[in-house]
Order: sequence, then structure tokens, then C-alpha cells
Amino acid sequence: MRHKPKKELYFMKKFGMVKKIAASLMAVVLAFAAAGCTNENTSSAQSSSGQSTDEKLKIGVVQIMEHTSLDTIRDSFLEKMEQLGYGEDKVEYDIQNAQGEQSSLSTICKKFVGDDVDLIVAIATQTAQTAAATTSDIPVLFSAVTDPVQAKLLTDPEHPDGNVTGTSDAIPVDQVLNLCQQLTPDVEKIGFLYTSSEINSQVTVEEAMKLAEEMGYQMQLMTISETSELQQAAQTLAQETDAIYVPIDNTIAQAMPVLAQVGIDFQVPIYTGADSMVLDGGFATVGIDYTKLGAQTAEMADKILTGTPISQLPVETLSEFGTYINPDTAQQIGVEIPQEIAEKATMLSKEE
Ligand code: TRP
Repeated sequence: MRHKPKKELYFMKKFGMVKKIAASLMAVVLAFAAAGCTNENTSSAQSSSGQSTDEKLKIGVVQIMEHTSLDTIRDSFLEKMEQLGYGEDKVEYDIQNAQGEQSSLSTICKKFVGDDVDLIVAIATQTAQTAAATTSDIPVLFSAVTDPVQAKLLTDPEHPDGNVTGTSDAIPVDQVLNLCQQLTPDVEKIGFLYTSSEINSQVTVEEAMKLAEEMGYQMQLMTISETSELQQAAQTLAQETDAIYVPIDNTIAQAMPVLAQVGIDFQVPIYTGADSMVLDGGFATVGIDYTKLGAQTAEMADKILTGTPISQLPVETLSEFGTYINPDTAQQIGVEIPQEIAEKATMLSKEE
């Protein structure tokens, strides 16, 4: 598990917020003049509206739960923000995690709105949906939403018409299936597994199954509603199929070691939607670099905070994909990686 971001580490680098600070200074000066310079505590002077001179931008960052990939996105977002001049001296970050609970997610988003934050950064689909449902004024910047249209966050990703935009981690499902063909040519039947409440997973599996059928694979589909069902479902699929495909599913990602163990026990390759799921014991994927996606989300935040209207900020995706393979898992399930694939793939392993 990654470390939590050290809030103390975000120092000032640039002077992005000059305007806002100048405005609040001016407000304070005027308030003092109006009040006839009463003897206020000058170290934290208050304007008539109760705002302090060192008013910072407020940014609420929320993720639905902790798993390797969401933590990576959060950390790289914060790191890039610091590089862009939004260090802790300029911004008050409220970093929250709903521990998988929808009710906590709603409470967190309501608190952000109550605190009148300048920006809500919502990591993953369910988070973005909740933030978008909570406010139509405060900009909601999402990160890693697989399909923002199906998630009903906006109707046209090229032309956001509300307060919501962000980055998507849409992936080329066909490339994962091609990889399956190349690495494990004996596979005839693929088991598809996802969490029924995750629309991001549902759309990806629907697409994957369509393509797999075209490629001549037999298929079997199973859904779970929570992590406690994962082991049983995976075991059933592993007994009845030759390979398992799981999409970019938060619930499964969080319990990836359970699924990885089933793959090893039944000698079945697990193809995943994300690199982190390979790192956490899955077999292989073709996917995006979430560190880059987090940084790209910060670039969009910068644009919003410096006044670019949301309508001028289309949803952004990454166009570069990498092949990720877990060599330990490969060895444990007895799959040999051909040299030409190994050369261009990134090997992800916790042992190194
Ligand atoms: N794309 C997922 C969503 O829309 C979130 C996500 C990002 C994710 N990286 C992941 C899920 C890795 C599982 C594994 O909700």
C-alpha cells in the first residue's frame, strides 16, 4: 500500500493565487478603513465578512475507497499541484476517503459544499456521480472515470455543459484480448467477472464480451455485489473457464490478492483492466499510466482555478497504452512470456 500524502510537504513553488490573495487583502484594508481601524488582532485580521487575510484556496479531494490505483492518482495529482504552484501554503486541501461507503461519500461531498470549496476533485466514477449530484455550482473535476457519458456525468465529453469535467481512463479492451491470444493461445473460454453496481465495469465488460465473441471465444459471465463474494465467484469461474477477465473494477481491485490467489490455485491467467491489478497479483493487461492521469487531472485543475470555463475543458484521455505483466504470477501459473512481448512490456512485481 502506498503512503498517504504528507500534507506538510506541499510548499510554495509559484505564485498562482496572487489575484485571489490581492482581492482578499483589499477586502481587509477596506474593512479596516470602514471600521475605523479598531484594535483587531493584526496577525489574523478579519474582514467584515469574516475572511482572514491569508485566505487560501480550498480544494476537496475525495476517493471512494483505498486501492493501489486510486491512491496513485491522488498522490500524483497532489504532487503535480504542488509543482504547478498550488502548495499547502496556497491551498487548503481536504483529502477524504469514503472507505467504500456511499453514505460517507454523500456526507463528504455535502461537507465540501458547506465549506464552499473552490474545486472538488472526485476520483473514480461513483465519487464523481455523488459530487455532481451534490452541487451544480462548484466545479467538479473527476479523475479516472472510465465512461463519463454512461455514468451520466455529462452528455458530450467534447463540450461539457455543466459544472463537471475531468479525465477518463478509457482503455482499449481489444488490446487486452489480443494479448490474451498471444500469451495464452490455448484459452478457449473466458470468464468475465465484475461488480454489478459499477457502471464503469459494466460498460467495459459489455464491450469486451462483444469483441471476445467476434474473436471466437466462448464466454461465461458472473457478477458480484461485494468483495466478500469475490472468492467464491472467482473459484466457480476458474473451474469452468480457461482465463478470467476483470475490468477496471474498484471493488475487485481492492481485493485483488484474493482473486490472484484463485488464479494461482486453479492455474488460470487473470487478465485485468489496470496495471495496479497486475502489480497486486493479476497476470497481465494493456492499460494506461495512472500517475500520468493524476498529473493530467492537476493540469486541468490549474486551468479551472485560473478561470477557464468548464465548457472549454473537454474530457481528457490518455492515448498511450502499455503492456503490463506480472512475471511472478506468470511463473506460478506456468505461462512463458515470448521474448518479443517481454521486451516491450513493463514487468510489475512486488518482489523487486
Ligand atoms: N476507472 C474506475 C472508475 O471509473 C476507477 C479506477 C481507476 C480503477 N483506476 C482503477 C478501478 C484501477 C480499478 C482499478 O471508477
